[in-house]
Amino acid sequence: MIDLDSEWAVQSNRRAVGIVGAGPAGLTLGNLLREAGIPCVVLEKGTREYIENRPRAGVLEHRAVQMLADHGLADRLLREADRHGACEFRVNGVAHEVDYSTLYDGQTHYIYPQQEVVRDLVRHYADERGGDIRWGVTDVELHGIETAEPALTWKNADGTAERLECSFIAGADGFHGVTRRSIPAGAVQEFSHQHGIEWLSILAEAPPSTHKVIYALHPDGFAGHMLRSSTVSRYYLQVPVDDTVDNWPDERVWAELHKRLALKDSDWKLTEGRIIEKRILDMRSHVVEPMNHGSLYLLGDAAHIITPVGAKGMNLALHDAEVLAAALTAYHRTGDDSGLRSYSRVCLQRVWRAQEFSQWMVFMIHRSPEPFLSRLGQARLEHLIASGSSAGYFAQNYVGP
Ligand code: PHB
Repeated sequence: MIDLDSEWAVQSNRRAVGIVGAGPAGLTLGNLLREAGIPCVVLEKGTREYIENRPRAGVLEHRAVQMLADHGLADRLLREADRHGACEFRVNGVAHEVDYSTLYDGQTHYIYPQQEVVRDLVRHYADERGGDIRWGVTDVELHGIETAEPALTWKNADGTAERLECSFIAGADGFHGVTRRSIPAGAVQEFSHQHGIEWLSILAEAPPSTHKVIYALHPDGFAGHMLRSSTVSRYYLQVPVDDTVDNWPDERVWAELHKRLALKDSDWKLTEGRIIEKRILDMRSHVVEPMNHGSLYLLGDAAHIITPVGAKGMNLALHDAEVLAAALTAYHRTGDDSGLRSYSRVCLQRVWRAQEFSQWMVFMIHRSPEPFLSRLGQARLEHLIASGSSAGYFAQNYVGP
């Protein structure tokens, strides 16, 4: 147990927790720790402007929003986000709507771009709660993670070197970050899977042509129309593994989206717009077990990545932050370390549930190079459309649990 009022806790080069990474996981943790009065610092390699404008995911689950709201972090989100409770599967030009909200306790998704989540979390942490955050840091190194007195060293944006002694390090610096790489080889187990498909991800300045997410199955591969705002939309196209963005000039992107999203016997039309981002997404899953080693606790993409199918990534990151914040708060208040000991187990239960569901959906909506597997996937979707119990399974896992 640490006396928060002691000089120890407020000395400038000591904090209870050093957080590496200012994404949704690191910033939520920072906010919850500040709320609990636990001194922490957040280190981020990007600038504030960069992370507040970087487009990524855009779907929050009911329980994630509830958690943010419980901690006073969802004011703008609740005012501005659209709520969605239905999605559409288009199979060979025929639309099938699944009203997952009705099937699962009235729970909905909230459509709110990740950079807006980040913007809100930075405002609450740094501007309103006076949290310490260092932008543009480089050369971050972790020291003594197998001891109870780990440390972080880094270079500030002005080139000065700094060292922070802490009790815990939270690694929220993404899949390619330094924190997971600081764990000695063999100390944790890593599970990795390439799903044998790739997505071309497109962001365009185009108003949505739909009020609900569309998953389209077409003989040439999957296409998705996802939502971001009234002026920006996200689309995905299944492309061959090892394809490159250079193969996809804008005209080809739109032609393929028109073709794969087309509806038979309908005057539905896809509205085009200026393409502002085009990336190939490697459809990979990766899980680190356990999610902690010594004094280092991993969160979000640093601990696990999941395909975008099912839109779980940001929700898992927020859940990790919630669980770790509760564990650190209990430890600092009373010395109770049971939450820290169960952190990895509790998070991984949700992570593996999400991985299983995402994989279930990946199989259902994609065209496989093996025709037999494609037909199996289509049979799964036909069952989802026809069977209440299959739709119930989908709804529970899609918007919950
Ligand atoms: C997205 O909004 O990018 C999204 C939504 C649902 C999915 C996948 C991606 O299943």
